[in-house]
Amino acid sequence: MEMKGKTVVITGGANGIGAVAAELFGKNGAQVAIIDYNEVAGEKVASEMHAKGIEAAFFKMDVANGVEVKEVASKVLEHFGKVDVLINNAGITRDAMLLKMEAETFQQVIDVNLTGVFNCTKAFLPAMLAAGKGKIINTSSIAGTGGNVGQTNYAASKAGIIGMTKTWAKEYGRKGINVNAVAPGFIETNMIGTIPEKVMEQIKLMTPYIRLGRPDDIAKAYLFLASDAADFINGTVLEVDGGMLK
Ligand code: NAI
Repeated sequence: MEMKGKTVVITGGANGIGAVAAELFGKNGAQVAIIDYNEVAGEKVASEMHAKGIEAAFFKMDVANGVEVKEVASKVLEHFGKVDVLINNAGITRDAMLLKMEAETFQQVIDVNLTGVFNCTKAFLPAMLAAGKGKIINTSSIAGTGGNVGQTNYAASKAGIIGMTKTWAKEYGRKGINVNAVAPGFIETNMIGTIPEKVMEQIKLMTPYIRLGRPDDIAKAYLFLASDAADFINGTVLEVDGGMLK
């Protein structure tokens, strides 16, 4: 998947899926803007990529803060001169059963996972429209397509992402912009670190390959949707869950 000369912006690029995707895009020739609110981890990813000869820069941003997103997006555009691909990958979980979920933690997840995608897309889309092309990839989840116990807030945010993806695909498709979502299954990152081992084993058994997903399983899906090979794919939700029985 050739990315030579393309500028790719990845939110949540300091850890997990985002960090692996940043490197994969870099290895395929892209210049990468790594965005995250974790400065230490983000700088580390960028410097490791530099050491491998990849052009990458870290930008500190809280995707939930609309004002900050605007300011940092201008800095990214100033640094690279353009954006070809935006991957809205940053996300958090604050799990609890509905009756135990506080309104604050409900809102917190919506602010980062849903409003964050709204903020970043609004900030980077104008540069894509000016160029007459661009690819936007939003990270949903199988919790967004099918719901998940203990994840009212998270499932709502990830289902909302699907609604925005399909809307933007319709709004901006004719302007040369592709907007798609990836819905990962359970992927081995810090995010699922709190799931008990016993539940993990059950999850693996629900997957025909009897394993969890790996960050690069998702990174490769991002790469495909960002590539010219996906030029006629718009408004779709690509489930990358190993065919999990749901
Ligand atoms: P992770 O926790 O390893 O990485 C998430 C990154 O997002 C971190 O670097 C974190 O600092 C950053 N982040 C969080 N809030 C932020 C904010 N307000 N502003 C900027 N950066 C922020 O998680 P993982 O697994 O790599 O998740 C990536 C995406 O994939 C998320 O959207 C997640 O919801 C989604 N996903 C993950 C699944 C999994 O099983 N790991 C399953 C389905 C979806």
